[in-house]
Amino acid sequence: PLPKLQIALDGPAGAGKSTIAKIVAQQLHLFYVDTGAMYRAIAYKALSSGAPIDDEAKVSQIAKNTEVVLDHSEEQRVWCDGRDVTQEIRSLEVSRAVSVVAAYPEVRKRLVELQRLEAERGGVVMDGRDIGTYVLPEADFKIFLTATHEERAKRRWLELRRAGKDVSLEEVARDMAERDRVDMERAISPLKPAQDAIIMDTTGLSIQELVAKIVELAGG
Ligand code: CDP
Ligand code: CDP
Repeated sequence: PLPKLQIALDGPAGAGKSTIAKIVAQQLHLFYVDTGAMYRAIAYKALSSGAPIDDEAKVSQIAKNTEVVLDHSEEQRVWCDGRDVTQEIRSLEVSRAVSVVAAYPEVRKRLVELQRLEAERGGVVMDGRDIGTYVLPEADFKIFLTATHEERAKRRWLELRRAGKDVSLEEVARDMAERDRVDMERAISPLKPAQDAIIMDTTGLSIQELVAKIVELAGG
């Protein structure tokens, strides 16, 4: 085990971050922290409370009063105010709302605090959009995963279809492009590689190849 090792994995939607982070964390005995799940939990709560997601004050208030917990069990469940919302946060509605909610400074402030607390508990593989640039600026390894927009959309579409969701590739591609645009253009902590990040293009690479590269890099 490598105590307190920090690996930051950032990149756009469908780049393979969470799949790879999970396996790397297992192999190196680190906690896996899915920061996107935290933003999704807040978006889910805002939607279920009926708050208009473009009401920044209301959504920020909701974020302040929400308890988000990621458990580190095998299943990586996500809890929102004591309720298991692991499935619900992957809905198309949440995916459409999340980047709006994630642009609010108060929402980010609250979740970044939780993320840094997670990293104090032990070594982590943390995935998101601003881990290398903002959440863990001193991370030992910063990796920025990319792939072409077509490949990322196709991966996500296949995943949704496997989950039984009836959605067209065009729709997934459109939603994804819009989410990436909002994530890259927001004023605070936009999606971009840290200056010292290693950029890996995952187009055409298998999950196993990527995991092996990262584990080797981290000296595992
Ligand atoms: O898994 P996928 O790439 O679809 O997204 P995610 O990692 O679950 O993140 C969902 C959304 O949360 C992103 O599109 C961002 O708007 C936001 N997010 C963020 O702003 N900062 C992070 N560190 C992680 C996610
Ligand atoms: O977390 P992020 O949105 O970056 O991506 P993900 O949810 O880990 O990956 C999206 C989908 O692409 C998953 O179904 C992965 O199994 C798949 N994938 C792949 O087919 N090849 C890769 N090299 C990486 C991910």
